[in-house]
Amino acid sequence: MTTQFPSDFLWGTATASYQIEGAVTEDGRKPSIWDTFSHTPGKTHNGDTGDVADDHYHRWHDDIALMHSLGLQAYRFSIAWPRILPDGTGAINARGLDFYDRLVDGLLAAGIRPFATLYHWDLPQTLQDAGGWANRATMDAFVHYADIVARRLGDRVHDWITHNEPWCISFLSHMLGHHAPGATDAALAFQVAHHVLTSHGLAVPVIRAAAPGAQVGITLNLFASRPESDSEADAAAARRHDGYLNRWFLDPVFGRGYPNDILDLIGPLAPTMEPGDLQAAGVPTDFLGINYYNPTYVRASDSAQGLFKTSELTPQDYQARGFQLTEMGWPIDPTGLRDVLLRVHLAYGPRAIYITENGIATPDTVVSGRVDDPGRIAYIDGHLRATADAMRLGVPVRGYFLWSLMDNFEWAWGYSKRFGAVYVDYATQQRIAKASAHWYKGVITANSLD
Ligand code: FCB
Repeated sequence: MTTQFPSDFLWGTATASYQIEGAVTEDGRKPSIWDTFSHTPGKTHNGDTGDVADDHYHRWHDDIALMHSLGLQAYRFSIAWPRILPDGTGAINARGLDFYDRLVDGLLAAGIRPFATLYHWDLPQTLQDAGGWANRATMDAFVHYADIVARRLGDRVHDWITHNEPWCISFLSHMLGHHAPGATDAALAFQVAHHVLTSHGLAVPVIRAAAPGAQVGITLNLFASRPESDSEADAAAARRHDGYLNRWFLDPVFGRGYPNDILDLIGPLAPTMEPGDLQAAGVPTDFLGINYYNPTYVRASDSAQGLFKTSELTPQDYQARGFQLTEMGWPIDPTGLRDVLLRVHLAYGPRAIYITENGIATPDTVVSGRVDDPGRIAYIDGHLRATADAMRLGVPVRGYFLWSLMDNFEWAWGYSKRFGAVYVDYATQQRIAKASAHWYKGVITANSLD
């Protein structure tokens, strides 16, 4: 059955600065927490770093031409804070701003609408040395940085995302320790989450003032939290999981403060707040960005993830239940995206939604100059149909950004996971559009799926 999208539906791809740019010491950039983390032995697969990545800092012009040739209408990229303010605060580095200025002009000349994310995890190391996101001063620094960037680009960039995935910034990076700065302290993670959410809210009016007419939102990674059985214990585990992964972020962003069930659960680990913080975090926004990759089935457990007493099924469990897995070991289930979209729409009612990331790592190889990635085509196809299902039920999804434009530095997984629609040969920096990129172009052109 043909699935038609509205004529103004926006088709794009997404990237993030540290994952693609390289040139980490060029033009005045100083280290971010990801430079430090990736250079620390044992933190990333194979010791991989973003030193060179896709060398996009030098190849941006060709990369825009590539996007244009693929029919892309929008591009979500992130700005590297340590290029703009190498120490996080203080002196502005003009050459850093100039880079994004050129990039934006190049995108517009190619007819591609820029969506700028201000924070996609590359915190200036100097700020980390002063306590990072646990320090309230980092919130002020972020708002100042947002103001500088919006003043420079706001005449041409109309779509702004404050933060990418606050759950990853806080829990994945400060409680589970998998991402920079690699801390393992639950109380710290809650404090970080609070400052990230508050800084989002403080930045929104500043961006609007600097960039008249701007549409401003935040991107959350949301999970379809499902119980693995019908038992009451597993249902309660799924509610706790949903509470700390989804509601802990959705509730304050939509002006409701933190969810009581999770506050009860964490007791003294709750963040320290100041008057006005929650009001700031709940500032009305123009859209919500949603990143979705997979559903999560959980069961009650006394030991695992101690605090939340839940454990997630393992990749083997998922396989035994008939799920196909991605190269990341994540189960594939587009109904999870439909459920997340519907739930957010019904429970929170954002004015508009963009799917700011969705995609899959597949085992791509070059054969006779071509890269066939049927798994990626099937994944995108399924998730677009799920999106259309949600839209038919009234969910205001305005656009879809495939993660990612091209293979890149997949954080702790280094270069071992390929998410791109475009293949990157890291030895030569050659780009090869995969079969999925050609297929996606067809979808964009038709504005429909057959
Ligand atoms: C998301 C990140 C993005 C990328 C994808 C696979 O959590 O926002 O940078 O790593 O996962």
